[in-house]
Amino acid sequence: MSVKVSPSILASNFSSLGEEVQSITKAGADYIHVDVMDGHFVPNLTIGPAVVKSIRDKSDIPFDVHLMIDPVEPYIEGFVNAGADIISIHPEANDDTDACLKKIKSHNVKAGLAINPNTDWEVVKPYMNVLDLILVMSVHPGFGGQKFISSTLDKLKALRKEIDQSGRDIELEIDGGINFENIQSVIDAGANVIVAGTTVFTGGQSEYANNIKKLRGK
Ligand code: DX5
Ligand code: ZN
Repeated sequence: MSVKVSPSILASNFSSLGEEVQSITKAGADYIHVDVMDGHFVPNLTIGPAVVKSIRDKSDIPFDVHLMIDPVEPYIEGFVNAGADIISIHPEANDDTDACLKKIKSHNVKAGLAINPNTDWEVVKPYMNVLDLILVMSVHPGFGGQKFISSTLDKLKALRKEIDQSGRDIELEIDGGINFENIQSVIDAGANVIVAGTTVFTGGQSEYANNIKKLRGK
């Protein structure tokens, strides 16, 4: 199974965000991971659709948008129009998960479900027929640079089995605390899309290609 790297721009230099997105694309990223936080669902604030739209033409690879917001539904169209290719939402938000996933799909955008460390993996079961991606949080959402929670590995294994049994083409993404030392363990547990913020953006633009290569084990 080929592994995709989705650098989280949360760890990039926000004063030159467009250039950072260009640079990470040239360095070999597969997706651009965009962390959207509302200061309510998570204790941090980041960016909204206007910023996503402003950087969309800096790269031709898919934008993997992770919404850590509640409510979700009123903002879906904004992120679709901003150019999101994949939109992941959290079932822990109080919004109607089923309706939000259907709304994302109605725009021909891929739909993902992102689950927190304390959320049981079985929460995905009712949505297996619509999901394109499952995002497993391996840190508590809100901030980059946190330590990987190792009990996530069992969750990945269970989800890999569930996906394989479904026969559907669903990506399994891992997000939080991924570094050169632990990446192989998440791949072995079944992840095929790897989000990495701190690890990719460390050392400045001249290091991005090396960091991505090293994550791929090359
Ligand atoms: C956390 C975000 C992650 C995070 C990844 O709420 O969803 O995408 O920024 O950053 P690192 O790789 O630094 O843990
Ligand atoms: Zn994320």
